[in-house]
Amino acid sequence: MIVTPGARGADWGAGYITDLAYLPGYYRHQSPLHLNLACLLGSVAGVGIGPATRLGYLELGCGQGFGALMLAGCNPLWDVVGVDFNPAHIAAARAVAADAGIENVRFIEADLAEMAETAAGRELPEAEIVAIHGLWSWVGDAVRDGIVRLLAAKLRPGGIAYLSYNALPAWQGALGMQRLLLEAGRRAGGRSDRQVVAGWELVRELAEADAAHLYDGPLVRSLTEYSREGQSAYLAHEYMNAGWRPCFHADVVRALAGAKLDWVGSAQLLENFTPLMLDEKARAAYGRYDDPVMRELIKDTFLTRCLRQDVFVRGARRLAPAERDAALGEVTLALQQEEAQFAWEFDVPTGQATFGREFFGPIVAALAEAPRRVRDLLALPDLPRRGNPGEVVGMLVGSNQALPVLGPPAEPDVRIRRLNRAVAEHFVRPDMLDLAMALGTSGTGSPLPCTMLDLFIVDRVQRGESVDAGAWASELGADQPESEQQRLRDFIERMLAERAPVWRRLGALPRSAPSP
Ligand SMILES: C[S@@+](CC[C@H](N)C(=O)[O-])C[C@H]1O[C@@H](n2cnc3c(N)ncnc32)[C@H](O)[C@@H]1O
Repeated sequence: MIVTPGARGADWGAGYITDLAYLPGYYRHQSPLHLNLACLLGSVAGVGIGPATRLGYLELGCGQGFGALMLAGCNPLWDVVGVDFNPAHIAAARAVAADAGIENVRFIEADLAEMAETAAGRELPEAEIVAIHGLWSWVGDAVRDGIVRLLAAKLRPGGIAYLSYNALPAWQGALGMQRLLLEAGRRAGGRSDRQVVAGWELVRELAEADAAHLYDGPLVRSLTEYSREGQSAYLAHEYMNAGWRPCFHADVVRALAGAKLDWVGSAQLLENFTPLMLDEKARAAYGRYDDPVMRELIKDTFLTRCLRQDVFVRGARRLAPAERDAALGEVTLALQQEEAQFAWEFDVPTGQATFGREFFGPIVAALAEAPRRVRDLLALPDLPRRGNPGEVVGMLVGSNQALPVLGPPAEPDVRIRRLNRAVAEHFVRPDMLDLAMALGTSGTGSPLPCTMLDLFIVDRVQRGESVDAGAWASELGADQPESEQQRLRDFIERMLAERAPVWRRLGALPRSAPSP
């Protein structure tokens, strides 16, 4: 973990914590191919992305740059820029990019509160996509205003912006808890991760004393979970920022209108399918309004999910239903797991969603062989009904079982092998093996979401090490008791059986890599 000693004293962070690096992570919703899908599902033209497109991608508040690096690595023609004001983050991101030899990514140290007015901001090229994940509701007004000015200046007309934030009213029960944690933590002093632990101790004590406003809701429970797992760096970035302020969707839409952005839908694709989100009674109220902002307020009043992941377009071009279906039909999907691991049912707020076997069975079987265009899937001879492209894309990608890709997977080239090796060397930590990461892939233009443990295994396999789950478990679990090492060994064996075929099929490992 990177620590910046003494940074807090200087307080250049304007209330945002700067003495502890944020964790690396990959969030599939930031990928331009995914954001394009969200636009098409919302009947809005996306940005045309083909294998030869020279796309500009800008990430604001990029942390250690893992996502930006992965997208650049998988798409040599894209021009990727990551911005963050923490020099420790920028130094780490640049070091990985240099070791990986990825030259189409740049990391710029700048404060978003003022970047639009500086030379660095003026020199930034316009981008087709701007991604802002985990920033908006954790910073103060000056930074949010600066982001809007940057979007106005740097997002191309027709370009897509992705913005995530802690949503109200889901977070309303945590307002008192966050404030208590922040104030108690600050009084305890020391580095932010120690502060958050100290603050949490007071929250727990008062919750046990039945404080009326620290009820045992999902947020307090998730905090307990994270603190038990020792994720204090994550917790510090979540709770110890002075500007922390969950937001209503309507207020975010109003703020981004300042950059002429139109709200299109959710990057969590299933959220765009109201029958999966709201029961009949809720839908009756929802259906009384045409206004999408009022509809989202009603939706947010029912959903317990805490993070909104919104997609905006700078000048939306509305598509007629036939145009939308034709565009969705051209999307190529890749199955992210083996057919045997496909989940035919999954939980949604209204209960369980089911992939009808008659309709989706042939589609999943075809995808298990190779990526396919949606219109080719819908033309499969054995489908019992016509189906529509929005349903296929929404269900498969929305349940995180398929990825949009640009082309057929290829054998991993030198660039991808070097990328996967560099990220494994820089980021793998034995105490965070289930962190959400991604593997570089050749041919598809799409990083393959995975865990940190996958990164470790792929790196070892591509180095030509003999596959030895026992040795890897002993190495990763060196500080753990024997029973924990045994558990890890079993888990690695299962990963090798279930995941290695996918790594090979989707261009992260050579098809000829040694078998587990
Ligand atoms: C919670 S992290 C999210 C990082 C990354 N987007 C992710 O999701 O993994 C928020 C990031 O925003 C950066 N940040 C906060 N305030 C900023 C500002 N005023 N200007 C630039 N970056 C800022 C922090 O340094 C941190 O890396």
